[in-house]
Amino acid sequence: MEKLLTLLRKDSGKMVSGSQLSQILGVSRTAVWKKVNQLRAKGYRIESTPSAGYCYVSAPDALLPEEIRNGLHTQSFGREIYYKERIDSTNRMAGDLAREGAPEGTLVVADAQTGGKGRLGRSWISPARYNLYFSIILRPHILPGDMPKITLMTAVSISEFLNEQTALPVRIKWPNDLWIGTKKVGGILVEMSSEMDRVSYVVLGIGVNVNMPVKEFPEALRDKATSLSLELGQPLCRVELIQGLLGGLENDYRNFCEEGFKPFQKRWADLSLTIGLPVRVRMPQREITGMALGIGEQGYLRIKMDDGTVEDAVCGDVAVMAEQIGNDAPQIIKEE
Ligand code: BTN
Repeated sequence: MEKLLTLLRKDSGKMVSGSQLSQILGVSRTAVWKKVNQLRAKGYRIESTPSAGYCYVSAPDALLPEEIRNGLHTQSFGREIYYKERIDSTNRMAGDLAREGAPEGTLVVADAQTGGKGRLGRSWISPARYNLYFSIILRPHILPGDMPKITLMTAVSISEFLNEQTALPVRIKWPNDLWIGTKKVGGILVEMSSEMDRVSYVVLGIGVNVNMPVKEFPEALRDKATSLSLELGQPLCRVELIQGLLGGLENDYRNFCEEGFKPFQKRWADLSLTIGLPVRVRMPQREITGMALGIGEQGYLRIKMDDGTVEDAVCGDVAVMAEQIGNDAPQIIKEE
């Protein structure tokens, strides 16, 4: 079916005869007709007249593998694609595939998730038709302790791409939340399987609110979350976005594998919403407050505590605080 699509697309807007197609593909004209109908069922607009043949008009706005592959300039990211209209979680499926030996770069993408996973056991709102939910399998030669760096590298790559593509000021809230202004627009969930000194695979799960209208956000999230289209005032093509994100991510990941985290440290700092501000970090066991100084080479958030000592936060949630004038109590201005 993909070959037929390529042939039709090559002559987009022109009629291609059924017999020509059947000759090139080495199948009967009835088989061509059946395949055209299958494409139509997926949402492709293909016009036809019995005498002249078929004419490709347009593709559906769907994250179909054949659409993602068409015009994708990557070596391994998205070369193998698993697409699901609806799935519990692309991270769950990518983890299963990774355990079965799927190669690096394998992409799992879904139109909707019924059990989308967020960080710290939260869920990720994943309705159909609007957004991007995808996971990529990686097999980096790193130590398990280096994992936070992959998370930060991903946040840098995605924010930079979105900044360039949309001119929106997408920023990173440590460790890897993507924000525009005071609202979250995307998130990254990195999961891995490792032994003591070896990572066997990493699943990089990415969710970006692309065309989500306000009414689709649960009421409780409406003043905390946004989408690219809400900020831009116009919808974006999800296929083009995912192609660009995959291209940028593959480049940055290669760079990271060759040169480590160093080249990303400054890029992360330039995009950070957190550095130089008073913060409160909630970690699983405790909470600390102080001034965010930056990120260390391991990807930890370095915080200068009120008593002058410096601590590294390894994981958790960060809230940026602003001192209220004339009031000692800090006011939280950005928090999930
Ligand atoms: C966060 O809490 O900010 C992380 C959200 C990550 C959501 C994405 S959507 C695709 C992938 N599959 C999941 O179940 N989660 C991630």
